Amino acid sequence: MRRKIVAGNWKMNKTVDEALDLVEDLADLLTDDILGSTDVIIAPPSLFISEIIEELLDVDYIAVAGQNCHHENNGAFTGEISAPMLASLEADACIVGHSERRQYFGETDALIAKKIDRLLEQDLVPIYCCGELLEERKSGEHFTKVGNQLKEALSHLSANDMAEVIIAYEPVWAIGTGETATPEQAQEMHAFIRSQIAMMFDADVADEVSILYGGSCNPKNAAALFANPDVDGGLIGGASLDADDFVDIVKALN
Ligand code: 13P
Repeated sequence: MRRKIVAGNWKMNKTVDEALDLVEDLADLLTDDILGSTDVIIAPPSLFISEIIEELLDVDYIAVAGQNCHHENNGAFTGEISAPMLASLEADACIVGHSERRQYFGETDALIAKKIDRLLEQDLVPIYCCGELLEERKSGEHFTKVGNQLKEALSHLSANDMAEVIIAYEPVWAIGTGETATPEQAQEMHAFIRSQIAMMFDADVADEVSILYGGSCNPKNAAALFANPDVDGGLIGGASLDADDFVDIVKALN
């Protein structure tokens, strides 16, 4: 079912104590009134997922995601974590294909497609990130770029598996820059993404998929972004590190 979702990507931030404090604050602040029908997901550093899931044992309104996983289930891959490891901690989801993974760790959509498969095998929800670079936006290639990303990472899935995937559109030029996509730019790209999913699968799958916007989304601009019919929520970086800001963004979706 198409869900309204606010997800926080904490990236490489917080010590374990700071992470637990933030989770405690979120658990307190996110009342039923604020949540409405919105799903909240947090993606802390993988090192703390176990403690955080334990902290949230009695809290069923905050789901926990990894920020990345390896494309194999196990093996000699020093420093990596796998989908079965995340599943064994009872995590709910995992971000894959973040532009920082693409940019700094050379990840391609062919590789990301395998990560999505590993996650789906474990009943973990893949949060698939796509988005164009500034040069691609400037030269008018943004639709082609995102269309290709979607095709390469998702077209091999069955319609049933695709129904489990969350898509996050994160224009690279908007991530951590303070330069947010305008609501019109976000809506235009989200509608395009939905049309591509309809072409690759069918109209029902496209209608059901949640498409989140990410890139300098904050309490001030969230409501205008979320007001668009094809924007189903946000994937939040910097503003997810502050409980009040993150909760204000959740409020903006209701
Ligand atoms: P910022 O919200 O800090 O721009 O980061 C967005 C992001 O990369 C979320 O995955």
